[in-house]
Amino acid sequence: MASTRIDWVAEHCQLLRSISAEFQDTLPFRGLTIGTGIHLEAKTVALVLTLRAGGARLVSTGNLNTTQPEALQVLQAEGITVIGEPTKDSQVHSRYLDQVLAAQPDLILDNGGDLFAKYLDAPYPGLRGGTEETTSGRMRLEPLRDRLRLPILVINDSPIKQFAENEHAVGQSTLESYLRLTNRVTNGEQVTVFGYGACGRGVAANFRGACARVTVVDVDPVTRLRAHLDGFSTPPRDAAIADADVIITVTGGRDVLTAADLPLLRDGVILANAGHFPLEIDVEGLARSPDIAGVREYDDDLMTLELNDGRRVHVISRGHMFNLAGPRPMGNSIESMDLGFALQARCLEAVANGSVDASSCVVPVPARIDAAIARSYLDRKYPAPLPIWDGS
Ligand SMILES: NC(=O)c1ccc[n+]([C@@H]2O[C@H](COP(=O)([O-])OP(=O)(O)OC[C@H]3O[C@@H](n4cnc5c(N)ncnc54)[C@H](O)[C@@H]3O)[C@@H](O)[C@H]2O)c1
Repeated sequence: MASTRIDWVAEHCQLLRSISAEFQDTLPFRGLTIGTGIHLEAKTVALVLTLRAGGARLVSTGNLNTTQPEALQVLQAEGITVIGEPTKDSQVHSRYLDQVLAAQPDLILDNGGDLFAKYLDAPYPGLRGGTEETTSGRMRLEPLRDRLRLPILVINDSPIKQFAENEHAVGQSTLESYLRLTNRVTNGEQVTVFGYGACGRGVAANFRGACARVTVVDVDPVTRLRAHLDGFSTPPRDAAIADADVIITVTGGRDVLTAADLPLLRDGVILANAGHFPLEIDVEGLARSPDIAGVREYDDDLMTLELNDGRRVHVISRGHMFNLAGPRPMGNSIESMDLGFALQARCLEAVANGSVDASSCVVPVPARIDAAIARSYLDRKYPAPLPIWDGS
């Protein structure tokens, strides 16, 4: 039988493969249920199966708009309890999350803070803690620390996640997705990137590498200075919008672009969001504006807003995170996700075995875990040389 893409990904998640082999002996999650709310795609399949190898029972659902049917099928065939289907409807998604929590998991693997925030609405006994994957989730959970009082390790705040995934991989997959979804040129185009955090730095660098002229907008003057010294132009926000052929938001904030910006937008501008939540570009607000004469929908979730004055504004994936959208979405590179998910597996292990306690509530990955994962990755790249044969 031909192998699938999920098999290809599993084959190349080398860190997870080796952790999985170890977990089969050590069984750190024996007797425990892990509830997960993270994009269900090929790489998360490898993570979920690694956790199961450690003895866990898994109850898994995806995130808004990113669940891939093949991933669902494979997990179901493996006997994992998978809840829900691909959806863009936040109320439907919310019910899926409720069903994960109804299983009263001992550990939670969260992505965006949805599960931990919902847990506080209806706490149950026995939750040991868990992990949160993203910046957006950390921002949401930090103010809830006093109520959570559980060990929750934030994968995003590992330096490895910052540079391997957020900077290098999100930058690459955003460029790949832009080309795949629009089939439009980048050379010579004026691209404005909102947000110059780790993700924005990667997006800006990759579009510059694809011969675009890149402008950065960031609300933080220190970050703007960094972008300037990195060689990007950093004009005032409205000027950057008015000049753009392409605008990409990747801030973690909301209402970064709204209907109030319609008068500034150039005819033919393309809007896309790579931030976690579909809240950065207020697509509903744009579409409802009295300035809009009509909306044209295309295949692959591309949309054009036709303005009364004849200008057209194109929107990719309705403002949902577009590097996991459209036909054949690949997401971030396998190696970057293997690194991030190895952090996930080790952090969940640390919560399960009690080596981190409630004083580690919404804190970065312990440095010892970062160091072990970095060593393990590099050891595969640079195995110890064979001893030189001395003829004896
Ligand atoms: N697409 C992906 O695969 C992927 C992967 C990882 C993270 N993310 C998401 O990307 C987003 C950004 O993550 P990050 O790690 O770069 O965050 P970050 O906090 O490092 O950087 C965000 C930057 O945006 C700036 N900012 C905030 N509001 C702004 C606004 N209104 N206008 C301009 N700038 C603004 C901040 O000053 C900051 O410099 C988050 O939502 C995160 O969850 C996406």
